[in-house]
Amino acid sequence: MARGPDSMLSWATLVVLAALGTAVTATTNPGIVARITQKGLDYACEQGVAALQKELQKIEIPSFSGSFKIKHLGKGEYSFYSISIREVQFPSSQLKLVPNEGLQLSVTNANIKISGKWKARKNFFKTSGNIDLKVEGISISAGLNLSCDPTSGQSTVTCSSCSNHIDRVDVHVSGSSLGWLIQLFHKKIENSLRDTMSSKICQVVTSAVSSKLEPYFQTLPVTAKIDDVAGIDYSLLAPPAATAETLDGHLKGEFFSLAHRSPPPFAPPVLTIPADHDHMVYLAISDYFFNTAGLVYQQAGVLNLTVKDDMIPKESKFRLTTKSFGTLVPQVAKMFPDMMVQLLLWASAPPHLTVSPAGLALTPAVEVQVFAVLPNSSLAPLFLLDMSTNISVEVGVKSDMLVGELSLDELLLKLKHSDVGPFSVDLLQAIMNYVVPSAVLPKVNERLQRGFPLPLPAHIQLFNLLLQSHQDFLLFGADIHYS
Ligand SMILES: *[C@@H]1O[C@H](CO)[C@@H](O)[C@H](O)[C@H]1NC(C)=O
Ligand SMILES: *[C@@H]1O[C@H](CO)[C@@H](O)[C@H](O)[C@H]1NC(C)=O
Ligand SMILES: *[C@@H]1O[C@H](CO)[C@@H](O)[C@H](O)[C@H]1NC(C)=O
Ligand SMILES: *[C@@H]1O[C@H](CO)[C@@H](O)[C@H](O)[C@H]1NC(C)=O
Repeated sequence: MARGPDSMLSWATLVVLAALGTAVTATTNPGIVARITQKGLDYACEQGVAALQKELQKIEIPSFSGSFKIKHLGKGEYSFYSISIREVQFPSSQLKLVPNEGLQLSVTNANIKISGKWKARKNFFKTSGNIDLKVEGISISAGLNLSCDPTSGQSTVTCSSCSNHIDRVDVHVSGSSLGWLIQLFHKKIENSLRDTMSSKICQVVTSAVSSKLEPYFQTLPVTAKIDDVAGIDYSLLAPPAATAETLDGHLKGEFFSLAHRSPPPFAPPVLTIPADHDHMVYLAISDYFFNTAGLVYQQAGVLNLTVKDDMIPKESKFRLTTKSFGTLVPQVAKMFPDMMVQLLLWASAPPHLTVSPAGLALTPAVEVQVFAVLPNSSLAPLFLLDMSTNISVEVGVKSDMLVGELSLDELLLKLKHSDVGPFSVDLLQAIMNYVVPSAVLPKVNERLQRGFPLPLPAHIQLFNLLLQSHQDFLLFGADIHYS
């Protein structure tokens, strides 16, 4: 077979197609979108600039010296030393979105007050004093590149560009009769200081981003271990995307099994997030997130509950005994006289949650095996029921945890198998409609109230919470406070 240009061409086409194929599978929808609005950036800017001011305050300015000329008398020498920054003022700063690129920090009209000592010498003539300087009209412009580590999914931030400009440096010599002398070399001090400050400002900005901001970004959880069964994957699928109005992080947002992780057999929906800007941050949490939770816990076989008589409210006349059951299904009392009854409930399929503007609804498939407890404590199976119901779910946020609470509709029962002969399952309806809400639901809600961690960085408190349900996702908005 000839390997002519034609076969080379098709080989190249294949490679391109393969590359496209990978690109297509790589663009999976996020399970969660974390959004920061301009209001959120304004708050972040305030916090960031306050930290940057502190860093600039720490700049060390080396002493410097030089020479000056006095007419007819020749050269003298001066030096400027013990220089310290007394105050840094940033009256105006902004953190702006640069679509498709990242963020731009701009500081304008900043000023820095500096004090130090000077001395001058001409032959045997020596003099010295204090000097105050003000570096005025400083503007700083820095580009922040937000990205993500493709292997860990951790967000990263680097300072991609930095420039600054200083309008002027003013010298004030206070209480010295030698002001005239300063006039001979203040220009030199001003220029030296301007050069030093100008070169240090961007160094400080760049190093503050890598030593302060980047480590803070790293406190965003990539995975959160929930319990012995599951973890949540909050890794970034792509670098955060800046548009003209928002900064969006596309997070994987899925529960996974700690024992053996495998991709879920369903995919995240497309999230159409409303253009809402009243809050600083928004989290759009898709039904995918919740349904991977259901899948992982159901497959691990932990969605089960044993109901015993001691879980039935004490004041109740109905007890989990063969006698109580016998009033409805006489065979039970006849075959197993005076025994306790025990129920084992389990999810026979992964519970499925639907999220829509009407709210959150869960349709679990639950099986219930009812046992009589024999005198030697072993369990004798009585019958197996299929139980279905519509559950409405209320979700909320408590500090930084997502919490939930279920409420039940009427239960529908089907008899799957009986060890006590045929009977009409409708008779049990009343019993199960009492047992499940009073003994099972509180246990489930107790777990849901313990909550699941939200993907938030350290030291963040949420307030002004908003929670809306939309088609296929829950929109959660909040203002934040950094403490
Ligand atoms: C941002 O960082 C990423 C990864 O470090 C790099 O590939 C990209 O070119 C950078 N973009 C800009 C605008 O600097
Ligand atoms: C019920 O769940 C527990 C963990 O919560 C698990 O250890 C146990 O094996 C499960 N039992 C059944 C019968 O599935
Ligand atoms: C308990 O008693 C039942 C019936 O009396 C018997 O069939 C069963 O084997 C006993 N189980 C144990 C563990 O002794
Ligand atoms: C759940 O709700 C749907 C629609 O309202 C209804 O058709 C169905 O019968 C309900 N199922 C149960 C188990 O109540």
